[in-house]
Amino acid sequence: MPRHFITGTELSAGEVRALVERALELKSAPYSSDALRKRTVALIFQKPSTRTRVSFETGVAELGGQPMALRADELQLSRGESIRDTAYVLSRHVAAIGIRTGEDEVVAEMAAYAGVPVINMLTPRHHPCQALADLVTLREAFGRLDGLKIAYVGDGNNVARSLIDVASLVGVEVRVASPDGYQLEDSAPGVMTDDPHEAARGADAVYTDVWVSMSDDPATAAARRQMLAPYRLDAELLDRAAPHAIALHCLPAHPGEEITEEVLYGQRQRIWDQAENRRHAQKALLERLIDA
Ligand code: CP
Repeated sequence: MPRHFITGTELSAGEVRALVERALELKSAPYSSDALRKRTVALIFQKPSTRTRVSFETGVAELGGQPMALRADELQLSRGESIRDTAYVLSRHVAAIGIRTGEDEVVAEMAAYAGVPVINMLTPRHHPCQALADLVTLREAFGRLDGLKIAYVGDGNNVARSLIDVASLVGVEVRVASPDGYQLEDSAPGVMTDDPHEAARGADAVYTDVWVSMSDDPATAAARRQMLAPYRLDAELLDRAAPHAIALHCLPAHPGEEITEEVLYGQRQRIWDQAENRRHAQKALLERLIDA
């Protein structure tokens, strides 16, 4: 059976730690692995992407492989071919399948029928590839993961859920501050509050994400911006965190909404490292899944 990466919790704590270290090795020597030599990785994008597409395509190429990006309108899926049949056909050609889609069930079904690893490149509930890159960025910034405290402020979305799921495996505490109606389910293992200052107090990193995600109804945008305004990541909120604290953002950013320009482009952010680390983390993930 292939190993899939759907929520991030398919990996053990030890594997996540090893993957983070491997990502940093690959960052310092980008062409040192040819794990995908003469192999192709299909990357299905049913939703727009900048970072995920560029980092996966470049990462697969650096591993000696051939990335094959497939937009929704280029596949027979858009004309009614089933996910099952698509999984069967792709598995006869490629070493792994990445998929970004608007329904979690699509990824689950692809994984159920694929004969090769399936990687979740973002769904409404999960964004585990982002969480891996976040851990690489934290490890790079602080030299360790154990005992770090991260405050996530804003919409309790897929990024927040995956951050909790993956970071809690390796001893990173995640506190999520969101207003009523925008909070993660109580069962998530992080610390939940509606107070962004309480979440940020003494944290090693303060993290935010967009207020209107791709899966959100655009008609709710104005209400979301109003409710989430007190959760903006600005210099004052960052001052509540530890003196050495860094600012993180999944991107794309909307300066003036969930983050100020001052923080986004300032001295305390590691946001652009975070975007780069997508590639290194995903290369380490591909090595691990392909070898399994
Ligand atoms: N963070 C992230 O997934 O970016 P893209 O939507 O541009 O891929």
